[in-house]
Amino acid sequence: MFLQLLWLSLGLCSSVSYAFAVSSDLQNVFQASNNVDIGDGVLTTISAEGADLEDILNLAEAANADVWRITRSEVDVYFPTAKGFTSSPFDDDAFTHNSTYIPRSARPTRQASDPSSWNLTSLANTTFHSEYHPLDEIEDFVQVMAGMYPDLVQLVNIGHSAEGREMAAMRISKPGTKTKVKPGFVLTGAQHAREWVATSTVLYLTHALVSSSSEAYAMSSLLDLYDFHIIPVPNPDGYVYTWEHDRFWYKNRQIIGPYEKCVGIDMNRNWGHKWKARADFPTATINKKSKTPTDPCTPWYPGHRAFESPEVNNIANYITTLPALKAYLDLRSYGQMVSTPFAYSCKKTAKDAEDQIEAALGAARAIRLAHGTSFTVGSLCSMLYKAPGNVVDWMYAKAGIKYSYAVHLRDTGTYGFSLPPEWIRPVGEETASMVQFLAEFIMLTKCR
Ligand SMILES: *[C@@H]1O[C@H](CO)[C@@H](O)[C@H](O)[C@H]1NC(C)=O
Ligand SMILES: *[C@@H]1O[C@H](CO)[C@@H](O)[C@H](O)[C@H]1NC(C)=O
Ligand SMILES: *[C@@H]1O[C@H](CO)[C@@H](O)[C@H](O)[C@H]1NC(C)=O
Repeated sequence: MFLQLLWLSLGLCSSVSYAFAVSSDLQNVFQASNNVDIGDGVLTTISAEGADLEDILNLAEAANADVWRITRSEVDVYFPTAKGFTSSPFDDDAFTHNSTYIPRSARPTRQASDPSSWNLTSLANTTFHSEYHPLDEIEDFVQVMAGMYPDLVQLVNIGHSAEGREMAAMRISKPGTKTKVKPGFVLTGAQHAREWVATSTVLYLTHALVSSSSEAYAMSSLLDLYDFHIIPVPNPDGYVYTWEHDRFWYKNRQIIGPYEKCVGIDMNRNWGHKWKARADFPTATINKKSKTPTDPCTPWYPGHRAFESPEVNNIANYITTLPALKAYLDLRSYGQMVSTPFAYSCKKTAKDAEDQIEAALGAARAIRLAHGTSFTVGSLCSMLYKAPGNVVDWMYAKAGIKYSYAVHLRDTGTYGFSLPPEWIRPVGEETASMVQFLAEFIMLTKCR
């Protein structure tokens, strides 16, 4: 079994396409490659060691670039055009940086994919996990799961999105002989619309839960221990928008007031634990002393009040109806991190922090054993920055789910949100290894 897994991992890793990775000199790439267009985008990772974080953020803002990720040691900045990058101060030896070219149309140009061609009878051989899927195909996938496994998969309509789309949850549960309630394990896909690999991963995990345990990475044996509750697309309106209009859209698509010129709430700042009207995303333009609410045009706008997003409200209402919840994973991208509560404060430590970190370290190890990918572990605030209104804080402090985590999947800034579809399957597999580990760990330590 181990050798088989090893073989599989080597096989997959060598098939990954590195065609677009460039080290630093973009001009050479433009000359070397026919299919690079000077109008395409550039993602550059800038080391914050030896450079001031505030300076980097100021320069990025002045260059009209989009900050994709900030950690304590580096900043990823996305330029919608390569020209924007080459005329920015970052294309200079003064900054330690690595850059990747991101195709202008990061949205796949593809034919509609027909459910009858997917052949979901096997986890390993289906074509479904080889590409990203638009919302209508995800809805087909969910229907096919319920149709193929009627004893295991139940669909629950949990309400409507801001634009009126129905939101679905899947309850994956093996009918037992005993009436005893099994502990619950909750998985959610991307709240931030552009984090496509989080969406593909939650679908892979769903499929792994119903697939025969004779297959590698299948998790159906966990259904003897747990009931799973899965919300594959928490932000359906935003997700559709990333397919139809703007690949890197972030928020939901809610109209927030008759006089507001901007649309959308950052769902992951709209949960009702320590929610705040001000979002101190660490950009230099925010006056730290100001008491004014956050500008609704910013991507991290937290709303006028907690649960203003109907999507957040629907999910919260559904979660509160579920019994005995023990684990929660907020699948996200990107950064390769397993993060514990809290996000709202770096000073407050969760009373279960020790157990949470112990399980997270094991989870990171389980991921590494699958394909060698390294994940870091810590509290969400300490890994990123202070961000109140986060789902992980609510799931832990309000819904009482002891093992609540944010999981930022691959990568660490080579492709960022534009992760190539060849990576969907290996990311799904390593995340399945993680879920398997966590589920077993929690069972073994449940007396604590
Ligand atoms: C650039 O890439 C190299 C090799 O992958 C890595 O060692 C280095 O840390 C990267 N630098 C930055 C600023 O990301
Ligand atoms: C679907 O996949 C299964 C398992 O790999 C295989 O046995 C079956 O022949 C496939 N069905 C079709 C219609 O291709
Ligand atoms: C997947 O396809 C391979 C090659 O055709 C086959 O040997 C294997 O049995 C299939 N696996 C499943 C679970 O159907």
